[in-house]
Amino acid sequence: MSTSSRDLIARRSGELFCEDVSLRSLAERFGTPAYVYSQGAILGNYERLRGTLARLPALICYSVKANSHLRILNLLRQAGAGFDVVSGGELARALRAGAAPETIVFSGVGKTQEEIDAGLSAGILMFNVESAGELDLIESRARALNKVGQVSIRVNPDVEADTHPYISTGQMIHKFGVPKDEAPNLYRRATLSLHLKVQGVACHIGSQILEVEPFWKALDEILGIARELAGEGINFKVLDLGGGFGIPYSGESPLDLARLALGLGERLRESSMRLILEPGRSLVANAGALLTRVLYVKRNHRKNFVVVDAGMNDLIRPALYGSYHEIVPVLDRAEEKIKVDVVGPVCESGDFFAHDRDLPSVQPGELLAVLTAGAYGFVLASNYNTRPRPAEILVNGAKAELIRARERVEQLMDGEISASNGGKP
Ligand code: LLP
Repeated sequence: MSTSSRDLIARRSGELFCEDVSLRSLAERFGTPAYVYSQGAILGNYERLRGTLARLPALICYSVKANSHLRILNLLRQAGAGFDVVSGGELARALRAGAAPETIVFSGVGKTQEEIDAGLSAGILMFNVESAGELDLIESRARALNKVGQVSIRVNPDVEADTHPYISTGQMIHKFGVPKDEAPNLYRRATLSLHLKVQGVACHIGSQILEVEPFWKALDEILGIARELAGEGINFKVLDLGGGFGIPYSGESPLDLARLALGLGERLRESSMRLILEPGRSLVANAGALLTRVLYVKRNHRKNFVVVDAGMNDLIRPALYGSYHEIVPVLDRAEEKIKVDVVGPVCESGDFFAHDRDLPSVQPGELLAVLTAGAYGFVLASNYNTRPRPAEILVNGAKAELIRARERVEQLMDGEISASNGGKP
């Protein structure tokens, strides 16, 4: 197994454990498919990042979209994290998990009036503003509610991040942020309003970035804007560099966080700005696995298929981005490896977890763990094919807790029954 999974899963006497609990016992207790998370791994990831940034005046705002379970938000809040949210729903989650409003940043290109009102009423640290229209709306809503909207402009620095095109965000072909040459005028406009307060500047150039260089390019651009505006008396208190810190899925080297921290220290030495980072994946991905049971093993003239009870509706990353997730049998298998496609029950050829993967030959009824699934796993799950979303389990030492019950088919149909028709569709 790669280092990506070491924190969560270890083999002990021939079977996989999450901390001190065997995955086999979890499958027996809670059924499959199920997401299993290690509390120790999440907190370990957070503490390691915290330690690496120790010399910087930094606030880690966990990016809620990566895994928004309230228990996980609560754990990270208790450990000292703030939050990066991108919807009214995520804002409500962060607040429900006890987040102090002044630790919440609100990003996203399409904030609605209701979402802006919610952020203003809560008194969040800042909106990361992505267009002139949004700035105007925040201003007018703040005036109407007699509040002051705290804002940063999310600058699109036009730098390339070497990652999957769907999760790259910092170039002119992307919908995100305000072009760097247009940002200064928005700041000038913001400072003229009694209902806006400029907090600083933000950017986020993409996700699963493995090299530090794109961060330096983005930083250079936004420090340039900070200098230009400082000359006019507009001073930034906060610099939000976004998230995107890449992790290993199949043996890659992760983004070198120590190098990132060192470089940030050097580049920000002269500045009094407080740093905000918005990591999502790097805090939770390797802390989670998707536990699934083999339903059938079949072979045609070309291929071997292992059909499992989890599908693309439970974990869409392979289908959507062609992402690699390590897959391992829960019980040790001595057999030689054979090439298989690991596929789900959904009626689409895109419903796969692996193509041509070397796996020990497994039998129906056996358990597999799809690793590094703690980020962008359950949050992207859907009910396609009227499949209830899986259970979620949090493990802490020898204790395993069901933190979200498996959905039931009846629940999925609930909203479709018309009350006026006596409960019939
Ligand atoms: N901040 C902003 C403004 C973001 O848009 C994102 C992610 C983050 C922070 C956190 O990025 P992270 O540290 O997790 O890389 N579903 C895709 C990833 C989408 C990322 C979207 N934005 C995946 O499964 O790879």
